[in-house]
Amino acid sequence: MDTAESVLQRKSVRAFLDKPVPEQTLRGIFERAQRAPSWCNIQPWRVFIASGKRRNQYIAELTAAAMSRGPETDVPFPAEYPEPYGTHRRACGKALYEAMGVERNDGPARQAAWMRNFAAFDAPHVALVALDKRFGPYGTLDIGCWLSTVLLLATSEGVASCAQASLAVYPDIARKYFDIPAELNLLFGIGFGYEDTAAAANRCHTTRDPLKQNVRFLPDELAD
Ligand SMILES: Cc1cc2nc3c(=O)[nH]c(=O)nc-3n(C[C@H](O)[C@H](O)[C@H](O)COP(=O)(O)O)c2cc1C
Repeated sequence: MDTAESVLQRKSVRAFLDKPVPEQTLRGIFERAQRAPSWCNIQPWRVFIASGKRRNQYIAELTAAAMSRGPETDVPFPAEYPEPYGTHRRACGKALYEAMGVERNDGPARQAAWMRNFAAFDAPHVALVALDKRFGPYGTLDIGCWLSTVLLLATSEGVASCAQASLAVYPDIARKYFDIPAELNLLFGIGFGYEDTAAAANRCHTTRDPLKQNVRFLPDELAD
């Protein structure tokens, strides 16, 4: 699969088969993602991957925490989503709930759908991604470059994924199971596995704005 095809095919998968990805395949993805660009080539991504029993124990404790307390992230989530971002955010949630057949006013069903986050949507492999606390926005940029590289490589290998900030909302629990050093901020997680193509949640397709909303090609000449 070429890069353009991977970009078009990649999507967030929110229901996985109960089938692990061979370790060699996963390692191959992360090995090649080491080529991701970063500021002065500092390569600041620190990634901790758990499968099997360790993954299951983390998920169990995360789910219990999500039922009993609010998020306690290392890095604060955005406090507001002004326009046009708020509209995009709502549309993304609506697309998912519609795909799942969850009604807007069905509180319990929405809550159940939300809680699936903390089960990593049943992904058999969970990666947690952290960054040295001393790096600001530019370090986070490097992590974004790495994340995109990983997700596209996974797609090209037929491995489904979902980046998930929700996997990072209880850093104390993450530190217990993933051995994350204190000098790192936990940023987000990624679930990996094989897509359950029969699952309603995976029928969700998000849209994008037309190019002109994000990218401006300026005229060669400055106006007088
Ligand atoms: C850093 C990051 C964190 C995300 N966190 C979550 C999450 O916690 N739960 C979730 O369902 N999706 C999460 N997503 C997936 C986005 O919702 C998704 O990428 C977006 O809606 C676009 O859809 P697509 O990935 O299918 O193209 C996250 C994506 C990124 C890049």
